[in-house]
Amino acid sequence: MNPGKTYTVAIAGMGKRGTHHADAFAADPRFEIVGLCDIDQERLDAAAAEYGVAYTNTDAERMLADVQPDVFTFCTLPTIRLPFIRIGVEAGVKLIAYEKPMALSTNEAIAIHELLASAGVKSVVSHQHRYGEHYQKVKEIVDSGALGRVHTVYGHATGWMMHMMTHLIDYVRWYNGNAEAEWVVGQADGTAKFSDLHASPDYIAGLIQFENGVRGIVECGEGAPDVPEVDYWWRKCRIGAQGTEGFAEVLTGGGWRAVTRDSGGVISGPGGMDYAHDMPPYIHQIAEWLDDPAQVHPCNGESAFKGFEIMMAMIRSTVQRGKIALPLEPDEPELQALQQALS
Ligand SMILES: NC(=O)c1ccc[n+]([C@@H]2O[C@H](COP(=O)([O-])OP(=O)(O)OC[C@H]3O[C@@H](n4cnc5c(N)ncnc54)[C@H](O)[C@@H]3O)[C@@H](O)[C@H]2O)c1
Repeated sequence: MNPGKTYTVAIAGMGKRGTHHADAFAADPRFEIVGLCDIDQERLDAAAAEYGVAYTNTDAERMLADVQPDVFTFCTLPTIRLPFIRIGVEAGVKLIAYEKPMALSTNEAIAIHELLASAGVKSVVSHQHRYGEHYQKVKEIVDSGALGRVHTVYGHATGWMMHMMTHLIDYVRWYNGNAEAEWVVGQADGTAKFSDLHASPDYIAGLIQFENGVRGIVECGEGAPDVPEVDYWWRKCRIGAQGTEGFAEVLTGGGWRAVTRDSGGVISGPGGMDYAHDMPPYIHQIAEWLDDPAQVHPCNGESAFKGFEIMMAMIRSTVQRGKIALPLEPDEPELQALQQALS
């Protein structure tokens, strides 16, 4: 069997997530890592030795010019997004894979979206929890029709907004067939977490009206419901769907459970979010999308953009009050406006 074309990859940001990406790219025969970048020379040298990559540079733009990869991956903290999208586009890469959250404001997200679209560069954003067997099982139950007419999708996490909210929204949208959102209302509380590298309100909640009539309910941070079945607090997320004849939900660190039309009581199964399990298919589907434009990656940037808009609409609603209609137009950067409103 023809194994398919090998795509070259350059990775910037060799911290926790850069390493996860490098592990999966290195293990997949469809990819060859041709360049590594980090501003931390020691970390860069260790990664080069670990993955056997000859080319390294502390300057991502220089790396891209030198190695001309098919795929540019960057796993930097949320403050670096648009500049790295720009250098990837200017270097002529075919696809950019980067970390959530996709931006710090709607203005930045729109700029990223337009830059990629005008250059015809594909993108994926790492909402890879969906590859977990428990996440997949809930999707399977929802799609089987065993919940009857789905009227509500929901997700909550005790981790704070810029870490967790786009994950929740991505999976809630997925369980709702990626229906478009019409409007959002939101409310938030507390400014202590604005000093974090993932600057966020301490707590935020939002309601989403989807075009198919389904209601979305999402919450993040201190004050979101506990998930007592899960002991590690980053994994205390519960995401699911309710219908006229039952519900199905995933606990990020605690499997899945459901009651369906035919289950005769609660049914449940295992699963726990595991990077080593979730990253290989996430990476492999990048090759499949590059091979064939019809095999659109489940974590495509277009979908991430729609989820990010919902999160930003929750903030605008908190600041401006009332329903915020989607899609959003450029406006005041949301995080600054929210911090001011909550102070
Ligand atoms: N998808 C997920 O499940 C998941 C999980 C954890 C974190 N994340 C996200 O991943 C991103 C990175 O988080 P992390 O935990 O890997 O951070 P990290 O601090 O471990 O790694 C970031 C790396 O980027 C490097 N860096 C900074 N500026 C750079 C530059 N200009 N050029 C090259 N390298 C640069 C740093 O030196 C560091 O090594 C964040 O946005 C975070 O929200 C996603």
